[in-house]
Formats: sequence, C-alpha cells, structure tokens
Amino acid sequence: RRRKKKKIRVYMDGCFDMMHYGHCNALRQARALGDELVVGVVSDAEIIANKGPPVTPMHERMIMVKAIKWVDEVIPDAPYAITEGFMKKLFEEYNIDYIIHGDDPCVLPDGTDAYALAKKAGRYKQIKRTEGVSSTDIVAGRMLLCTRERSIIDSHNHSSLQRQFSHGHSPKIEDGGPGTGASTRVSHFLPTSRRIVQFSNGKGPGPQARVVYIDGAFDLFHAGHVEILRVARGLGDFLLVGIHNDHTVSAKRGAHHPIMNLHERSLSVLACRYVDEVIIGAPSEVSKDMITTFNISLVVHGTVAENVEYEKKRNETKGESEKRYYEDKTYVSGD
Ligand code: CTP
Repeated sequence: RRRKKKKIRVYMDGCFDMMHYGHCNALRQARALGDELVVGVVSDAEIIANKGPPVTPMHERMIMVKAIKWVDEVIPDAPYAITEGFMKKLFEEYNIDYIIHGDDPCVLPDGTDAYALAKKAGRYKQIKRTEGVSSTDIVAGRMLLCTRERSIIDSHNHSSLQRQFSHGHSPKIEDGGPGTGASTRVSHFLPTSRRIVQFSNGKGPGPQARVVYIDGAFDLFHAGHVEILRVARGLGDFLLVGIHNDHTVSAKRGAHHPIMNLHERSLSVLACRYVDEVIIGAPSEVSKDMITTFNISLVVHGTVAENVEYEKKRNETKGESEKRYYEDKTYVSGD
C-alpha cells in the first residue's frame, strides 16, 4: 500500500504591523514552499525590545494574519528570534519542516542573525522581499509626513519620526515641497498583471451563486475591514468587493487620501480569505448596469456613514437589489 505523502509544513514569523500587500506577498510565497503555512505573530513586548513599538497591537495583528488566505495556522506571542528552545518546539510540537523569512537581513540588537540557528540546522528557506512597501514607509513616509500641517514638522522631527518608526528599513522620504499633496506620497509600487493573478482565486461565481457586493476605499486594510468582509461573505456564496479609485477617495476624504493607492488597496483586499473577487476602481455608486453585469443579489455596507448626502444618493439605488445595513458599530463602514 502506498503511504500517504507527508505534508510539508512551513513556518514564517513576523510582526505584521499595519498589514500591507508586502506581508501578504511574503505569506503567499511562504505557503508555496510547502503544503501548510503556520505563522508566528511576534508579541508586542518582543517587538518593543527589538525594533520599537508597533502601531497595531497583538490582537489586531492576529486578526490580520488569520484573515490572509494563505495562512493555515497562527501562533500568538511568537519570539522575535528563533531560539534553540522555540525551534525545538516548532519541529516537535508543530511538525515544522522549514522556517522561512524574507531576504532582508534580520539582525538582533546584539548584531546576530535572528535565523542563525535555523540556517545551521539546514531548515531555513528564503523568499523575496517585496519592493516598495514597508510599515515604516506607510507610517513615517506616508501618514505622518503627508498631512496638510506637514510644514510644522521641521526637518529635525522628520528624522526623529523616521527613527521612531524605522523598523530596520528606512523609508525614502520624497519631499515635493508644500502644497504638492498627493505627489509627496511615497509609493514605489509597480503593479503587474502577474502579481494580480498570483493574488487571485481565479474562479468566478457559479451560475446559481448568490453574489454579495460591498464597496469602499479599504485604505490601510485593518481589522474592521476584515470583520465586515467576513460578515458580508457569510450572506452569500461569492463576495465581490469594489475598490474605489484614488480620485473618488480623495474627493470624499481630502487631497491626502488615500494613503495606499488603488492597486495596493486592491491587493490587500484580494489577499483576504473572505474575498472572491475585486473590481479595481469601482464607481462610488452602485449602478443598475453593475448589478446586471456582475449578477449581484445583495449590496452590503456598514452603518458608519462619512457623508450623509453621499449615503442618501446611494440609497436611491435601493430596490435594484436587496440591501442591508449593519448596526454593529464595530463595522468600520464599507470603507
Ligand atoms: N516582508 C516582505 N516584503 C515587505 C515587508 C515584509 O517580504 N515589503 C516579509 C519580511 O521579510 C518577513 C515578513 O514579511 O518575512 C514579516 O515582516 P515583519 O516582521 O512584519 O517585518 P518587516 O520586514 O520589518 O516589515 P515592515 O518593514 O513592513 O515592517
């Protein structure tokens, strides 16, 4: 009798602070090196000790990692470095075959390599780090330096902010001068069709599927987004998410928004396990045409409205399809 082939289990750890498509792409590549991916989410205390305070706390980082479709299991409060004891636990308790990390050097405060022991044991594999994005760049390079009041942040504070949020990868701050708005934003992201395909499920809805639609900006993909997507997906068989284009988001929220561009936002949403498909650049209003084209049975969005006029207008499309609102305040609207 042929023995069932053992599943290759791989482990990736990380802080996954302000989860972005670079993290998602790392998880995707890690998963492709085995059959099952176990992710260790580093504890707040360990992050503080090794690279400074994270923006998002442990429980939120856990929600984000669990929401990624390539993740099979999550270990909370993982250590920052692979110690002898933890490596033993990974091999013996979690049946891990390989420990995986991005190809950026990961040095501990004492100058040693966090993965030295795994490398020595011959159980280390590497994936390619995604260019053009890091939590540091998002916080220090985009959010803090792109506010209208930017001018009050003098150059001294610039570097201290950078230091404070520098998690080992210094962001390239491009100062376009006052009033340059969106052009000062740092985005080195080059979307390719291949990357979109890699993130896609590749399957459309079946003919009988109940297609649920939700739209929004989905800027800085967070735990509130994950929660509403989970609820929305539960209302049907196929979740289609409309991502508003950059112009639509700026028109609603101001010139300094969105922080992440359309393609970055689309990839983050696409990486979420509850999402079946995204419309990259959806209109702000759900049209009759869209409902027919995409065979939408239900349009969902949260109750936290940012703009009453806009919401009123949206409600006029009611009747074209069933529409539901969720009263729970934890749902951070459909944005
Ligand atoms: N990673 C990646 N590409 C990025 C950012 C992170 O491949 N643009 C990978 C890292 O190499 C690591 C995993 O994602 O294997 C988790 O990264 P994390 O511990 O959160 O830390 P950083 O590498 O510091 O990521 P960031 O700079 O975005 O905080």
